[in-house]
Parts: sequence; C-alpha cells; structure tokens
Amino acid sequence: MDAAALLLLALATVAVAFGWLLAGPAAGRLKKRGRMPPGSMGLPLIGESLRIISAYKTPNPEPFIDERVARYGSVFTTHVFGERTVFSVDPAFNRFLLSNEGRDVGCSYPSSITTLLGKHSLLLSHGAEHKRLHSLTLTRLGRPASPPLLAHIERLLVSIEPGPWSESLRREYVKLIDGFFSIRFPFAHLLPFTTYGKALKARKTVAGALREVVRKRIEEIGENGGTNGEDDRKKDMVEELLGAEGGSFSEEEIVDFCLSLLIAGYETTSTLMTATIKFLTETPAALAELKEEHDNIRGMKGKNQPLEWSDYKSMPFSQCIINETLRVANIISGVFRRANTDLHYKDYIIPKGCKIFASFRGMHLNDEHYENARTFDPWRWKINNKLQNAVGANIFTPFGGGPRLCPGYELARVVVCIFLHHLVTRFSWEATEEDRLVFFPTTRTLKGFPITLRQRPESVA
Ligand code: HEM
Repeated sequence: MDAAALLLLALATVAVAFGWLLAGPAAGRLKKRGRMPPGSMGLPLIGESLRIISAYKTPNPEPFIDERVARYGSVFTTHVFGERTVFSVDPAFNRFLLSNEGRDVGCSYPSSITTLLGKHSLLLSHGAEHKRLHSLTLTRLGRPASPPLLAHIERLLVSIEPGPWSESLRREYVKLIDGFFSIRFPFAHLLPFTTYGKALKARKTVAGALREVVRKRIEEIGENGGTNGEDDRKKDMVEELLGAEGGSFSEEEIVDFCLSLLIAGYETTSTLMTATIKFLTETPAALAELKEEHDNIRGMKGKNQPLEWSDYKSMPFSQCIINETLRVANIISGVFRRANTDLHYKDYIIPKGCKIFASFRGMHLNDEHYENARTFDPWRWKINNKLQNAVGANIFTPFGGGPRLCPGYELARVVVCIFLHHLVTRFSWEATEEDRLVFFPTTRTLKGFPITLRQRPESVA
C-alpha cells in the first residue's frame, strides 16, 4: 500500500469516526423506532454553522430558512453550533415547544453562559423555583400601570443625565453582554484578555455594584423600615424581594435576579427603540401618522404635564408601529429548547436530548401568515383584533410564550411608547449615515443608526 492509499484509508477512518460521533448512539436507536425530521448536516463538526452565521450577518438571512423549508418542510434538521439541531417554523410545533417548557422540553444554556448569568438567575431556574421567581417578576413588571412607575420611566427617559456611577456600570455591562456572544476557547476563564475573560471580570463588577445597592437597602430598612423617610413611597424591586416570602431570598439570589433583569431587559428594549427609529425614518407616512397621534395627546395635556396610563392607552398607532417592528426586526429570533423525552411530531421522532430551535423569525416573515410579510407595514395591525388573532394562531410570538413568556412584555411597550412620545413631539431627525440591521450574534444595527436631532420649532411638548 503506497503513501497516498494509506492517507486515503486514514481519512476514511476519521470520516467514519466523525460520522459516528455526529450521528451518535441516539440516531442508532432511532433508526429502529422512527426518523428524525429531514435535513442536511453540512460539513463534519462545523455542520452548517458558518452558513447560518454568514446569513444572519446580512440584512436578509431568510434564504437560509426558505431553502430548507422548501426542501424539507417546516420542521427540519440541521447541525449548528456544535450540535445536531431541529429547526421549527411550524406554528403548532412552536406552540408545543413554548407551552411544554419544563415538561417535555426544557431550556438549556451552555455552562459558560450559566456562569455569566449566575446560578440563581430567573433564566436558568427550573421547576418550582422558576414558577416562584417568574410569578414574582410578572407581578412586579406586569403592572406598569402604576402611576409612580410610569412617572419614573418618563423621568429616566427624558430628564436624568447618566451619572458617573451608571455610566461606568453601563460600560462594564456592555463587556458582560459581549461575553454571551463570544467564541469560548478552552480555559477562556483563565485568560482575562479574551472577550469571555473580560466578561467574567465585568460580571464581578456589575454584581458588586448591585450588591452594594442591596446592602444599602437592607441598612435603610433596618433604620427606618425602608421608607427612606417618604411614607407614601412604593417599594422598589429590591425592597420587594427583600420582603418577599418572609425575607427568604439571600443577598446572592437578589443580585442574580436583578442582573438577569438587566441582561434580559436592557439590550432588547434599546434595540427595539433603535429599530423603530430606523423603520420610521424609512417610512415617512408612518412617521407623519405617529406624530399626529402624539401631537394630539400633547395638545390635550399641555406642556410638561407627565403622561398618564390613559394617555398610554390612547396610542393605538404607536402599538401598530411596535408590533410591526417586533415582527420584522425579530429582536429575539427564536428560542432554544432541549427534548426531555422522545418527541413525536407528524411521522418524525425527535430523540430525548436533542436540541430544538423554535424560530419566531421564520413564522413572522412567512407570506402564508402575513401578506407581503417582508415589508414594514404598520397599518396591517389596524385591522380589528389582528393582534389577538395573530397571538392566538401562534404566528406572533416576539415575547415567547408558555411558562417562560417574557415578564417584561408590557414594560417594554410602555418604555418605547413614552420614548416615541417625547421624540416625535419635541424633535425631527434625519439619518446621519447609511446603516442596516444584522441578526448575528444578536439583532442590532451595525452602526447604532446614528441620527441628527433637531428641536421642532413648533414643539408642543
Ligand atoms: C423588546 C423587548 C423584549 C423582547 C423582544 C423580549 C423577548 C423575550 C423572549 C422571547 C423571552 C422568552 C425566552 C425563552 O422562552 O427562553 C423573554 C424572557 C425574559 N424576558 Fe424579555 N423581552 C423583552 C424585554 C424585556 C424586559 C424589558 C424585561 C425586564 C425588565 C425582560 C425580562 C425577561 C426575563 C426575566 C425573561 C426570562 C423569563 C423566564 O425564563 O421565565 N424582557 N424575553
């Protein structure tokens, strides 16, 4: 046997070994009992990761999903990010995945992400602990109607300059977020110059700052019962957690909890705001209608009057803009789950342990569900009950669903509505540079969509 033949034999052996590793014993088991949804595994080890990454780095990643749906159907198998993954753009199957979280499927994050989030984070908790933390969050965030909270959001949005404390915390927070989407080399935690190493350090700083807040609040409660001298003041989240369930939350639990809210709520809401401005800039008729809505509200209130819940409820076109931005931009393009048991779907079996991606994007941008689905058209949401019907048919899930439904879904809308109100009643703007949306590692505009703001001469605010 010459050297070339030996090399071929070696390569063939390696290929067979890879094939076995990739297919794994579960696939062998399945051959006997049923088959996985069809699909393509791409290259050995890297699978189709490079294809999905390069697609999602463009403003139009749709062909990645479109081609596979055309070839294999709305539930197909691929191999991304080191693992065989079932990809679903099927509304019924996605509903099953969302509503069965914690039973037939569970959400699972790699250990590197667990470390950044903290072990008591809401996003990582399961079972009874998750139920308890989720309902506590929903009770608190699902009540943005409370006048003090509304006033606080407005104050934060329009009148508070970032101080040195919040600015330095913000910088650390950005490093922490970068860590979630970095490539993790082995032992990256020991390498402080890598993105992941820097993120670990930033986590310590942010958690330390939050711990200080918690300790200060504990001291205040000890001194004056937590009222801070203002008897009618409503409790904030930290105070509520300290008092919840007979004070059973530890300091570490409260810090992890607050950190998970920061991580889940900050980037998503600010991206929604930026994407909204981008779409409004590109759709002048929508901007004109939005201005009219907010000028009318301001006209009835008079200058400098704070917004009230009834004002928020009189912003139907703003809600159309938010729905459409959520639908087209897909701030969260879908969620990962892992099968806790063999799942039966149509003629297929998805084996226990298999990773599954419920794609929201694939449903939101499907012409079967929305006419001219890939066009920004906020007026489509003006049709009676359009939102309820789309949510009911499970073709509009920007905030997920089931036990892990985003507890910040109403808060995000309130924040963006108040922001839009002050933006359009006080300013006009134009884009300073060409910019575009990309979707990997997260949905964002490449340059942050820079604009030049001008005070409106006829400002009514
Ligand atoms: C545009 C804004 C937002 C979008 C698109 C969004 C989207 C989502 C989605 C899709 C999930 C479900 C994740 C899953 O099923 O695995 C989720 C969960 C979550 N969101 Fe949001 N979110 C937004 C804003 C917020 C805000 C403002 C907060 C809080 C301040 C927040 C806090 C959370 C938390 C804590 C979870 C985890 C819930 C759990 O695991 O039980 N989100 N979000």
